[in-house]
Amino acid sequence: MEERILDGAETLEESASDLEQALRPATLKEYIGQDELKQNLNVFIQAARSRNEVLDHVLLYGPPGLGKTTLAMIIANEMKGNLVTASGPALQKSGDLAAVLSTLEAGDVLFIDEIHRLPRQIEEILYPAMEDFYLDIIVGKEGASAHSIRLSLPPFTLVGATTRAGDLSAPLRDRFGIVSALNYYEQKDLEAIVARTAGILDVEMEEDAICEVALRSRGTPRIANRLLRRIRDFAQVYNGGLITKAVAKDALNRLNVDELGLDNTDRRFLEGIIFRFNGGPVGLEALASSIGEDTLTLSDMYEPYLLQMGLINRTPRGRVATPKAYIHLGVDYENRELLGH
Ligand code: ADE
Repeated sequence: MEERILDGAETLEESASDLEQALRPATLKEYIGQDELKQNLNVFIQAARSRNEVLDHVLLYGPPGLGKTTLAMIIANEMKGNLVTASGPALQKSGDLAAVLSTLEAGDVLFIDEIHRLPRQIEEILYPAMEDFYLDIIVGKEGASAHSIRLSLPPFTLVGATTRAGDLSAPLRDRFGIVSALNYYEQKDLEAIVARTAGILDVEMEEDAICEVALRSRGTPRIANRLLRRIRDFAQVYNGGLITKAVAKDALNRLNVDELGLDNTDRRFLEGIIFRFNGGPVGLEALASSIGEDTLTLSDMYEPYLLQMGLINRTPRGRVATPKAYIHLGVDYENRELLGH
């Protein structure tokens, strides 16, 4: 057996990601929610398999944590290919992409996460690879000795994932035969995911506790699973391991996750608009710098859920907080003062 010596940090990280791996469904049948996407994908996979072809390239877009990586793994699994993973930020030079493409075998799935961050000149190498399965690489130094050689690639499926479909160039987007959005999960699906995870973690959980965790997970399985692991800690220390609704509520309050599933950053986002910019409208960059957050983090991770919940609106002049946001934070709409103060 291979011997590996790990320091503490590595051990912790490994066990967290092993657990995350164990929680991922391996087949479409096990995958909960996103019914329309799942049903369509199931047809495309079955059809490609019965024709003995590779699946057309797939673009998945939507907020983080909804299962884009999991679906790429499932596609590879269902198509009986290997999964090769890469990401837009890690593919910055043409050699980086050529190195990845040259490892592909027939029927493999190449997953490129954050595909909107591929530089344009790398996108251009990808086009012939996607359309006709070949790769032109320049060899030799610049000048007379430089020439390109054509490398043919085995048929493969590219699965691209992005949180920002609008940032993808039109020519790249057009080369995906299957383009699907992932939406925030419905309550009943999140409950099923929490119950499934509780089963895998072998933790006992009451029905109304499952409902409470699902309610506060902002429609996102990754958040539901993360909260559940933390609630399990509280249950273990304070309640002999059993997760009741009271244990779940208490733990979620201690984790600063409120009744709508908002965390401290969500609340700072809303309070920033209300108190620093008179309720808006305010541009995202001005808001981000005023509350000390990164603009991309706010736009990709926080804003979509606040919009979905009707706590903010987007107007041509910027974001505004809605009356619902004032009510949720207990702030008077007219004079922007905390009620009861
Ligand atoms: N775990 C995380 N996301 C899931 C999903 N959509 N279905 C089943 N288990 C999950």
